[in-house]
Amino acid sequence: MREYTVTLVPSGRSRPFPEGTILSDALVDMGVPLRTPCGGRGLCRRCRVRLGDDASTEVLACRSVVDRDVRVMVAGASTWEVSPFPGLTRGRRLGAAVDLGTTTVKVALVDVDRGRFHTVASFLNPQRRFGHDVVSRIAAAADLRARDRMTGLIRSALRVCLEKALLASRIDGTTIETVVLSGNTTMLSLFFGLDVSPLGRYPYAAATRDFPGVAPGEVGLDGIVGGEVKGLPVFSAFLGADLVGALTLFGRTSLEGWTLFADLGTNGELFLAAPSGEVFAASCAMGPALEGMNISCGMSADDGAITRIRSTPAGLAFDMMGTGEPAGITGTALVDLIAVLLDARVIRPDGRLDLDGGRGGLPEGLTAAPEGDMKAVGLWGGLRLTQMDIRNVQLAKAAMHAASRLLMDAAGVAPADVRRVVLAGALGEKMDLEGFMRLGFLPPFGGATFEVAGNTSLEAALTACIDPGFAAQAAQARQRVREVVLSEQEAFQDVFISSLDFPGG
Ligand code: FES
Repeated sequence: MREYTVTLVPSGRSRPFPEGTILSDALVDMGVPLRTPCGGRGLCRRCRVRLGDDASTEVLACRSVVDRDVRVMVAGASTWEVSPFPGLTRGRRLGAAVDLGTTTVKVALVDVDRGRFHTVASFLNPQRRFGHDVVSRIAAAADLRARDRMTGLIRSALRVCLEKALLASRIDGTTIETVVLSGNTTMLSLFFGLDVSPLGRYPYAAATRDFPGVAPGEVGLDGIVGGEVKGLPVFSAFLGADLVGALTLFGRTSLEGWTLFADLGTNGELFLAAPSGEVFAASCAMGPALEGMNISCGMSADDGAITRIRSTPAGLAFDMMGTGEPAGITGTALVDLIAVLLDARVIRPDGRLDLDGGRGGLPEGLTAAPEGDMKAVGLWGGLRLTQMDIRNVQLAKAAMHAASRLLMDAAGVAPADVRRVVLAGALGEKMDLEGFMRLGFLPPFGGATFEVAGNTSLEAALTACIDPGFAAQAAQARQRVREVVLSEQEAFQDVFISSLDFPGG
């Protein structure tokens, strides 16, 4: 395959790339982590770069490929923001915790001796263009070159992120002692360069359930990490370190009744824990809608993103990051919007947009804005919510709803027996519980209390950076788990289909 050289202007740094490499990927490899908040769909225009000796041509890096030698100028504002760890001084023992999500990656630095930590960055997983979910990434990885590329992309992104975090905290030149990664089994396996094909075919066996420390040089982190890079243990092909980590965190507190824990993400994971200590666990494919991906106007929380939408007496109001025209909406705002439209009966319980041939009951400020044959609601700044977007949210919510019902069936527990519901995930911390339940992501639980636990996957990795015994406890916690493989449940199809409707039908 032909190779072409990408040269950064003005530094003059250059590197060859195979013909056809997406320019934004090439830039990540070269240590320039472009922001791609719309997931590389050419909508947000945040990934603009200039090409040519005179930087005269502007292109979207996410939509451009390397097909000739090219000189690229990147405006500083287009790269991810890495926030400095306040008050960190040289000479501290440092760890790094990573929640390696299918869609979103979160990284925190940890001051090991003081037990302090700070989330330094959140960025979209650059493997995303090989598929939105674990199943499509496993399929893509059947091509060994694609697998290597996915492994290389995530390692480069993490390296750049850690370098920037140290620089921003004014302690560059310091090495990080340990890196601990959490995430689903596929993401961890790809990071450590393992064969993921067994995860995609019967009997769905993980190549390993433990990711003990490797030398930083083996995963592209040499020079920046002094000790080792390890992953938290996973349970199986479907139940990852995020679930095992959360279970271990919860194992430190006593449970006073049945507890349902749901980790919301592209790959949703749930467990139902009995006071006796027994744990039933399952995973479900929610897709990336709640992270703002695979939605026509979706984006991650970044400049231009609408982050919340609510009804006010004066009509709909929204919160937005930054200034100017809205560029997209986040998953949280998407849940808000669908809840509002359900209440206005513009979305029917079966998910159909009912615009009555015109505006229907649309709240003030919104319009009917069909996209070809597809019904859609016009929002602000030319954004639209299409019928397909609503279907994608229905698929996500049906997956979580059906998984929780089947888990309760397997444990012989009725919703009324559940005492405590804990929601976690990258989205969990910002989640509006009311909207979440309005859309029916979970069945109603008569007497349960609800908690939003934030990102327990990252918290588990953080804890493992500080407490050297945590990974062993996590490995031990696996013994309590009984996996419920949803696709093997006879009632799966029926329960899934009956979970598609929004409540109120
Ligand atoms: S337009 Fe390139 S990432 Fe949004």
